[in-house]
Amino acid sequence: MKIAILPGDGIGTEIVAEAVKVLNVLDLKFETETALVGGAAYEAHGHPLPESTLNLARSADAILFGAVGDWKYDKLERALRPEQAILGLRKHLGLFANFRPALCYEQLTSASSLKPELVAGLDILIIRELTGDIYFGQPRGRRIAVDGHFPGAEEAFDTMRYSKPEIERIAHVAFQAARKRSKKVTSVDKANVLETFQFWKDVVTEVHAQYPDVELQHMYVDNAAMQLVKAPKAFDVVVTGNMFGDILSDEAAMLTGSIGMLPSASFDKNNKGLYEPSHGSAPDIAGKGVANPLATILSAAMMLRFTLDQPQAADRIESAVKAVLSAGLRTADLWSEGTKKVGTREMGDAVVAAISGNFAGKTITKT
Ligand code: IPM
Ligand code: MG
Repeated sequence: MKIAILPGDGIGTEIVAEAVKVLNVLDLKFETETALVGGAAYEAHGHPLPESTLNLARSADAILFGAVGDWKYDKLERALRPEQAILGLRKHLGLFANFRPALCYEQLTSASSLKPELVAGLDILIIRELTGDIYFGQPRGRRIAVDGHFPGAEEAFDTMRYSKPEIERIAHVAFQAARKRSKKVTSVDKANVLETFQFWKDVVTEVHAQYPDVELQHMYVDNAAMQLVKAPKAFDVVVTGNMFGDILSDEAAMLTGSIGMLPSASFDKNNKGLYEPSHGSAPDIAGKGVANPLATILSAAMMLRFTLDQPQAADRIESAVKAVLSAGLRTADLWSEGTKKVGTREMGDAVVAAISGNFAGKTITKT
């Protein structure tokens, strides 16, 4: 098995280093190869997703990705901006199904911005369609308006679109995922206004006929945003388009205490996966050694479980994360009075120690 390691920019390099450290202590047989991506690749090769990086990602069995982006690239033409690297990987590798689990660890219920009782035991799975919608729809661009409220004025436009097979395949993914959980899917749309999302709703309903054992609920995105902070535990699997999924997954992340806790996995039709934290490159704290590496470490666990077929190794990582949280270790994003503030490396070291049995006398044994 070969894992492509793409740390990227900002805190990306710091958090991926910790995840690699954790992978290496597990005694598994795999090969890794590291490549530049995002702003780092632009600096070195003049492109955020150089051919060599894309080829590595193509040839690898799994990809561990950090984060890309920095404000200093905001003035570059769009095709050269760091974000194009992750968008390009999703598109070129056909990674259409994005799993963003929002799990509130019992040790972190008080770190959430919501009342502890609202988030205690929270375990929802956002399934975001990742290669369609307004993110990739053509045409898009700038032009001089020929109609509308201000003909003759400069305007910009994007295209929201979904084809039937694109909606069908993500709907199947969601219903199948729900069968392994509590058999409930909430499909989030904006069918009351948008043609694309009336179509989304119709197609999801049609696919649902093949899953009579799964309950399907439709919800408008504005209401979903509200329900997520009102009664988040009422959700189980949420399936939605690229744009709404981007927004709702950040919102759901915060319920768990910190976006620094949220892993994610993006799959192609053969279950090849790209694993990355749900958060970004956080240039404001980059290089300071304070970023939370747990989302990336947990993404590595997802990689072991879903692509590398090493569920026990994944369990060991997840148990180790719980052990270090139980011991009160917190990076700055999670810190509160009475807990011990640690940096990125210390947190990674603690997880490694917990896996290898050298952490506060606790051993996370092989199961
Ligand atoms: C995410 C990010 C990306 C997105 C950006 C970096 C392009 O916000 O993975 O959620 O919008 O999809
Ligand atoms: Mg996002």
